[in-house]
Amino acid sequence: MMARLLSVNVGLPREIPWRGQTVRTSVWKCPVEGKRMVRRLNIEGDAQGDLSSHGGEHRAVFVYQIDSYKYWQDELHRTDFTFGQFGENFTVEGLPDTEVCVGDQYRIGGALFEVTQPRVTCYRVGIRMNEPRMPRLLVSHGRPGFYFRVLQEGEVQAGDEIIKVAAGPEGVSITEINGLLYLPGHPREKLERALRIPALPAGWRSSFQSLLQGEQSGGAITGEAGPTSGISLPALPGFRPLRVVRITHETDHAVSLELESADSRPLAVALPGQFVVVRLRTKPEVPTLLRSYSLCGPPSTERYRLGIKKESRGAASAYLNTQVKVGDLLDVSSPSGRFVLRAGNRPVVLLSAGIGVTPVLAMLHSLAAGSSMRTVWWLRGVANGSEDPFAKEVRLLLSGIPHSRAYVRYSRPLPEDKLGLHFDAPGRLDLAALEHLGVSRESDFYLCGPKAFLSDFTAGLASWGVASDRVYTEIFGSGKSETFGIVGATVRSPHPPPGVPGKGPRISFARSSLDVSWDPAFNSLLEFAEACDVPVRWACRSGVCHLCETALIAGAVDYDPSPLESPADGNLLTCCSRPRGDVVIDL
Ligand code: FES
Repeated sequence: MMARLLSVNVGLPREIPWRGQTVRTSVWKCPVEGKRMVRRLNIEGDAQGDLSSHGGEHRAVFVYQIDSYKYWQDELHRTDFTFGQFGENFTVEGLPDTEVCVGDQYRIGGALFEVTQPRVTCYRVGIRMNEPRMPRLLVSHGRPGFYFRVLQEGEVQAGDEIIKVAAGPEGVSITEINGLLYLPGHPREKLERALRIPALPAGWRSSFQSLLQGEQSGGAITGEAGPTSGISLPALPGFRPLRVVRITHETDHAVSLELESADSRPLAVALPGQFVVVRLRTKPEVPTLLRSYSLCGPPSTERYRLGIKKESRGAASAYLNTQVKVGDLLDVSSPSGRFVLRAGNRPVVLLSAGIGVTPVLAMLHSLAAGSSMRTVWWLRGVANGSEDPFAKEVRLLLSGIPHSRAYVRYSRPLPEDKLGLHFDAPGRLDLAALEHLGVSRESDFYLCGPKAFLSDFTAGLASWGVASDRVYTEIFGSGKSETFGIVGATVRSPHPPPGVPGKGPRISFARSSLDVSWDPAFNSLLEFAEACDVPVRWACRSGVCHLCETALIAGAVDYDPSPLESPADGNLLTCCSRPRGDVVIDL
């Protein structure tokens, strides 16, 4: 059967109310009569509402098949569909997802197109369809639809014949490539095949590369530059008592605690850069405190070392700095977190400010222990020597790494701080210093420090041309929400949910230091976190994209619906889970 363009649909962004918030979207598309010019980025009269998730050269035109309309009408018992129903620009007859391959080229009217990728899973198609399960259904039923890149601009109109002019290399269909990312399995041979397709966009490429390296459990996230969402964690969630075996006052403002197993069981292996959560009761009459601390020692199953800054108003840090004694038992979680050193040959840049030194110090230990031949940059900004713990230890470790360079700036050096010995220059560490030092843009960058330090450097590295999937950041505290398309959201500190407190299990949001009772009126832990203004990340809200994947520090959850692919061991998907009992979550 000849393939044909049935309808050209366009729409401009609009703001709509949704769950008490405002969403900017152009998922509503309307059919147009006559010829329309198709440009490199858009069809005339069309635009995308959220360019981080949609649009751009590789997602210029979204295509959906009339055959799938019929399928969903039956499946969902609906009769109200109109052209543009699935947010597509082109409604087509023919071109099923099972046959169209990435890299195929088609001529339609006066324009030439290339198939780039399947639909990006996104909650907005659920809003448009009035069916929140829709992102998940499109993926799990293998009918996502696909995007065109515009190879040659030109006019198109409804009724135009669709002529295939070239077949994509490797012959990987849209259904296959969709399943390769979102469904369990990820066979190596298929991943390698997909990576050989030049038309595949960078975000998908990077997700497939992560899957090949075993760094990711699934999910393209937003279709571009998908972060590694599910570093496999080595241990099951839960706390265990560990004994304090050594306390070292590293500076007047920071202490390190070394902890060992209180029984004969070895400790769970921590990946360099991970943290543990410590559960503390500083006084019998005060509530339990949960605090996350990065591990900062060498890799070990016998001993963990935590570096803890003394905060002026921090009950937990003051207790750990001044009250804890050798021999005490502390309740400590398994190691967790996605800020971990990646394998490879690229130069490594360990960039820290203040007490952000701790996770990158663990990475430095790991590089030194493995006699790494990688180029390692130790770049640090801190007030002065009194706030620069582990400085001697760092120099010793660097001396054992053949290709290492260090550069330290003190913003307020003390008289006893010696230029050239303790620090290399006065002032704050900035991007200009990296340029001046000749740090390669092709490095892997690991950043940890205060929020302003991280946001300045993240933006600076992006403008310097460093790919976002090579910049890894760790923030102490709760970070900020990532909610694609939500506009004008007010940022509030985490708080108990409004209304009468629930009577369910305790939900502890570790980074937000919030401990509240579950209320079964909520559909998911994600909804509960949102009601508490705990910063969250999500895109599909239906167990597909893994953007909501988060470490489960303790406890267990039940899923409804089940994720299309399970999260990594030790993690949970908040968007489709409910607590089975008390839980501690890394949010
Ligand atoms: S899996 Fe997509 S938001 Fe949870």
